[in-house]
Amino acid sequence: MTDAPHSRADHYSYSVYADPAMAEAFDALRFSGPIGRLIATTQEEVIASFLAPLAGRTVLDVGTGTGRAAIALAARGARVTGVDASAEMLAVAERRAKEAGVGVTFTPGDAHGLAFSDRSFDAVICRLGLMLFNDPAKALRSMRRVVKPGGKVAVLLFSAVEKNPYEGIPRTVAHRRGRHMPRVFVLGEQRLVEDAFRNGGFSKFSVHTVATHRRFSSSTEAVKALQDDFHGSAINELPNSEHEDAWQEVEQQLRGFEGPNGCELPGELLIGVGTK
Ligand SMILES: C[S@@+](CC[C@H](N)C(=O)[O-])C[C@H]1O[C@@H](n2cnc3c(N)ncnc32)[C@H](O)[C@@H]1O
Repeated sequence: MTDAPHSRADHYSYSVYADPAMAEAFDALRFSGPIGRLIATTQEEVIASFLAPLAGRTVLDVGTGTGRAAIALAARGARVTGVDASAEMLAVAERRAKEAGVGVTFTPGDAHGLAFSDRSFDAVICRLGLMLFNDPAKALRSMRRVVKPGGKVAVLLFSAVEKNPYEGIPRTVAHRRGRHMPRVFVLGEQRLVEDAFRNGGFSKFSVHTVATHRRFSSSTEAVKALQDDFHGSAINELPNSEHEDAWQEVEQQLRGFEGPNGCELPGELLIGVGTK
């Protein structure tokens, strides 16, 4: 059986990502440059290590976006299906998989009502998506349904806003200037992720923290990186007249992380792993 479909109108982030320009920009801004590549690779390695061994196993990537994690796991030998509510993100994913010379099946769908038979996959992953879904427990229940008994469901999330200054400071500054606070950090506590797994029907699960770290030569360099990064887009979306002041505010806060080795920015991710 498959789950009842969720109304398209309920997709908080579907509308955000249902835009070809957004889909292109997301991919370019999230994963370009040495830092973007390093971050993507680190996150993929974390997921892969929790799911190992991968070769020959069937994996579903929920909220696959531009397919970066799906492609990375397929390159490690997994047979991957990527599902996303945004056709525009999937179009970029298809193109990227082709460019990478990797076979991934991409298909549109809703995380809350995955249209796959029970016990279809050896493992399910969801990278930086669960916190954006309207009902994370319902989405986890759906993921649990489609994984085989003994299979794992692994989700990667940002920890609390104050533990992720690079991602958090621009959004907080923009929020104080009247922008809504995106849902990026809403599951940023271990107990909230545990609740979601419990309410998603898992009796076996664990939530781990993964420390991340970025270093820039100065806060000015960190601001320059943010100005070209998806995580700085909250400031770029403010009225033009506010940009300069807002970026100064960001820089001032980042200065608090400057030390003898430059601007050292800690970060923390949560990885939740449930076993069916
Ligand atoms: C922040 S992006 C993460 C993409 C990808 N997992 C990554 O790590 O690069 C979140 C993705 O979730 C998708 N999404 C949002 N709501 C969804 C839903 N209800 N069902 C399926 N996908 C959804 C969005 O379209 C977007 O592509």
